[in-house]
Amino acid sequence: VFDAPRDRLGRPLRDLRLSVIEACNFRCGYCMPADKVPDDHGFDAAARLSFDEIETLVRGAVRLGMTKLRITGGEPLLRKGLPGLIARLSRIEGIEDLAMTTNGSLLPRHARALREAGLRRLTISLDALDAGLFRELSGGRGEVSDVLAGIAAAESAGFDRLKINCVVQRGVNDDQPVRLLERFRGSGHVVRFIEYMDVGTCNGWQRERVVPSAELRDRIHARWPLQSLDANYRGEVAERHAFVDGGGEVGFVSSVTAPFCGDCHRARVSADGTLYTCLFAAQGLDLRPALAHGEVAFAGYLAEAWRGRADRYSEVRGSPRAPKRHVEMFLVGG
Ligand code: GTP
Ligand code: 5AD
Ligand code: SF4
Ligand code: SF4
Repeated sequence: VFDAPRDRLGRPLRDLRLSVIEACNFRCGYCMPADKVPDDHGFDAAARLSFDEIETLVRGAVRLGMTKLRITGGEPLLRKGLPGLIARLSRIEGIEDLAMTTNGSLLPRHARALREAGLRRLTISLDALDAGLFRELSGGRGEVSDVLAGIAAAESAGFDRLKINCVVQRGVNDDQPVRLLERFRGSGHVVRFIEYMDVGTCNGWQRERVVPSAELRDRIHARWPLQSLDANYRGEVAERHAFVDGGGEVGFVSSVTAPFCGDCHRARVSADGTLYTCLFAAQGLDLRPALAHGEVAFAGYLAEAWRGRADRYSEVRGSPRAPKRHVEMFLVGG
């Protein structure tokens, strides 16, 4: 019905990252530190899109060429009735990839239902294996044993090749990558290390805290030789490497030292239905009114919004043109 729209830099909309909830049971310092985002922050369940609205939104985006859908949060498993939503979304024709990013702590309770509902892939955030450090990084609210139990639950529910994402901060958890690889090499899961980014407004980002992927890769290569792999698809965010000894694969996401905006095909929508065309966008566009007019009218509205997009924050970071205010990470889920 619609031509696949291109934005002002010629990029199509391929990938939708949809937050279903802005609340989280953790308080990671780089995302929603408890002193800035307390428990009574004003999370508003009534402001969240309904499942009907979400289905309209996703069907509209599919009409524009979106084929990759990722469910995010906050912590998505806190959204009531989530498997029911997944079941509706997994039936939509045209979605080739349906994935979710979670902190993993609630997977022991939910992994099986998600699998049965048709979720195909899971990405689990895990910044430390050390129990004390993990507790500290989660703002005193998480236990690494729960996340490991979540990984086990996901495996037994039939999820294979999990992605395990670790944000690396110098002087904070830069000893954890090797520990994570010791544990997950050879498991079939793919650990990926993410450069610490200046997202949101809460995290007091300092460039000195970034561990460049090249440095980390050299360190890992010295222990377990690596060999680079081709991307799985155009615009893949992580750079892939294989362990030469057959131990599987490891990935690096280098948004600070090697920006990848040129191939950025991602739109983000927060739980209240606001469209952000960049992870670092200063402001968003309220999609709710357009959703009320149904899938086709909505698709037209979204196409217009996408055509106006010119974001490339990671490529202009630090320049006067770069937006200073950023959407909070917990609203768009990474
Ligand atoms: P796959 O579909 O498995 O390839 O996952 P993905 O790499 O697209 O998604 P994931 O959520 O696992 O991304 C990993 C991390 O990379 C996120 O948590 C973000 O920190 C970062 N990231 C993802 N997309 C972008 C982006 O568009 N811009 C920037 N700057 N960082 C991103
Ligand atoms: N830099 C890099 N990644 C981040 N994430 C959250 N905040 C940051 C940041 N400042 C990642 C989390 C998780 C996903 C939801 O986003 O680690 O994997
Ligand atoms: Fe929660 Fe994920 Fe943000 Fe941590 S990074 S506070 S787990 S949403
Ligand atoms: Fe896309 Fe913005 Fe990330 Fe660049 S910084 S890759 S435009 S989300």
